[in-house]
Amino acid sequence: MDTRDLNGKVAVVTGAGSGIGRSTALALAERGADLALCDVDEEGLAETVAAAEKRGCKTFSLKVDVADPEAMQAFARNTESALARVDILINNAGIGVGGLFVDVPLDAWNKILNINILGVVHGCHAFLPGMIEAGRGGHVVNIASMAGYIQAPGMSAYSATKFAVLGFSESLRAELELHCIGVSAVCPGVINTPIVRSSAMYGQTNSPKLREEGIRAFERRNYSPDRVAQGIVKAIHKNRGVAPISPEAWLGYRLKRFFPGLVAWFARRSASAQRKRFD
Ligand SMILES: NC(=O)c1ccc[n+]([C@@H]2O[C@H](COP(=O)([O-])OP(=O)(O)OC[C@H]3O[C@@H](n4cnc5c(N)ncnc54)[C@H](O)[C@@H]3O)[C@@H](O)[C@H]2O)c1
Repeated sequence: MDTRDLNGKVAVVTGAGSGIGRSTALALAERGADLALCDVDEEGLAETVAAAEKRGCKTFSLKVDVADPEAMQAFARNTESALARVDILINNAGIGVGGLFVDVPLDAWNKILNINILGVVHGCHAFLPGMIEAGRGGHVVNIASMAGYIQAPGMSAYSATKFAVLGFSESLRAELELHCIGVSAVCPGVINTPIVRSSAMYGQTNSPKLREEGIRAFERRNYSPDRVAQGIVKAIHKNRGVAPISPEAWLGYRLKRFFPGLVAWFARRSASAQRKRFD
């Protein structure tokens, strides 16, 4: 899809109240798109709406939990009434969970599966039938992660959801080509957003000191969500199937493809370093 001028087009963004979702909504507004935005955080959502409206765009917003299929269906119906069409769907809302597999309780697994995987499925289920029926084509972006192709110790729950989003997106892309709807799995690396602050941590990783170290590492890396938003717009423009974003995400993508044994060795080494640290 040509993203140079999105006047007259409508983009839906889930998890638009912070980080990558907010930056992507504003990048699309800059190019002229009108926006349908949702989040569970009403305050963050209101800030994004205000910033988008300053850019002259028409917005519709709703407090929606992407894990709730009925709420997502209602969001789609209300978007259709408010803005009359949908051209771009960005399934971005997601959470983090950290901790060794044996320490992460099943309720944390259920929560992250419901948000990070089923949230993406609910977004597609609610909006795609209307997009297909309209026959105008369009684009779906599902936010996966570098953790969707690189294994990392202490991140099995998060990684499982992101591998799933990548696989789902590749299948969907093949099906939707017929309808001129592109699908991109966007895979950011380490991005400076509040996600580490809000991630649930379990076992020995659940310490204020370790969380603070994580936050500082993301801050030092300092790759902004605005740069991810530019990468997302480019992925839509070029109709990329998989779009790693940031140098580390690209490096991981190439290493996993050409040197999978090296990536597995590195994961084992990090696991052993973690064990030594906790012993
Ligand atoms: N920050 C990173 O390093 C990074 C890297 C790769 C992928 N990602 C992915 O990018 C996406 C956005 O993350 P971010 O870093 O901008 O984090 P963030 O915490 O800044 O933003 C996530 C937003 O999603 C919302 N949200 C959470 N659960 C929700 C739910 N059930 N329903 C609706 N909204 C919900 C939050 O309220 C928040 O506004 C996530 O899918 C995340 O996994 C982030």
